[in-house]
Amino acid sequence: MKPAILVARAIFPEVLSRLHQHFEVESNQDDVIFTPAELAQRLAGKAGILATGSARIDAALLQQVPELKMVANMAVGYDNIDLPACSAHGVMASNTPDVLNETTADFGWALMMATARRITESEHWLRAGKWNKWRYDYFLGPDLHGSTLGIIGMGRIGQAIARRSTGFNMRVIYHNRSRITPELEAQANNASYVSKEELLREADHVMLVLPYSPASRHTIAAAELAIMKPTATLTNLARGGIVDDVALIAALREKRIAAAGLDVFESEPKFHPDFLTLDNVVLTPHIASASEKTRLAMANCAADNLIAGLSGQVPPNLLKL
Ligand code: DGY
Repeated sequence: MKPAILVARAIFPEVLSRLHQHFEVESNQDDVIFTPAELAQRLAGKAGILATGSARIDAALLQQVPELKMVANMAVGYDNIDLPACSAHGVMASNTPDVLNETTADFGWALMMATARRITESEHWLRAGKWNKWRYDYFLGPDLHGSTLGIIGMGRIGQAIARRSTGFNMRVIYHNRSRITPELEAQANNASYVSKEELLREADHVMLVLPYSPASRHTIAAAELAIMKPTATLTNLARGGIVDDVALIAALREKRIAAAGLDVFESEPKFHPDFLTLDNVVLTPHIASASEKTRLAMANCAADNLIAGLSGQVPPNLLKL
């Protein structure tokens, strides 16, 4: 008999067909967001789940679903999964690293450039019919080329962002839990390892690409914003909770930094309504990995992990405690 799984959110039909070859599949192509109680109910008797960040996999859930053996997250981030609780319940968990590095790095650049060069703000102004002449000081913003890029979180996505900066003749500084190897630094446009404070003081453009954990919550709060340059931009591709939104809104409103580009929010899809009152913030709906090719690769990667894990093999992207 095939093991039963839940595909917790809508997914590419071709990946669903693949999963049907291996499993009894309960799918959710209507893309209902399950409450914790509904998720527990759907998971009853299931050996696996293909999940996204909207499914909280914690001790409270795991206690209710003793048959569960494997959680395959369709994301590189896995802050929705309590790994110690999974380990205590004998549940394997996996993520989808690498397949999204380059696409996410592309988007990081797009968001940083839109933020610095005020692309969405000026487009809204144009669409509102306000453009009646050219003026020397309309929509001035900081340059990207020749500036200093500060990357917080120098994993594979951070390194892919840094590599792209060579074409812009930028200096790259980074902060990370630990220094990366000299070889990787060389490939990352000769990035220099600095303290968080030095990075915030020096960078013209700060890019957040670090994983979320209780320790990284509010990595950027009032004290950090206070030492950034008033001309600097902040781009967040990581997770919303890494930035203290209230402090960021105050800094943007008072022009203590130039602008921010945010693809992620702490309680997404909800976000602080005051962001909508600001011109100097670019807001996007968690789409950094959203190219057709990459989202399909992520879904297939999650499926590969689930298929391996539930057939007695080690999932290729098994997460370790
Ligand atoms: C990830 O892979 O973690 C992206 O943020 C998409 O959820």
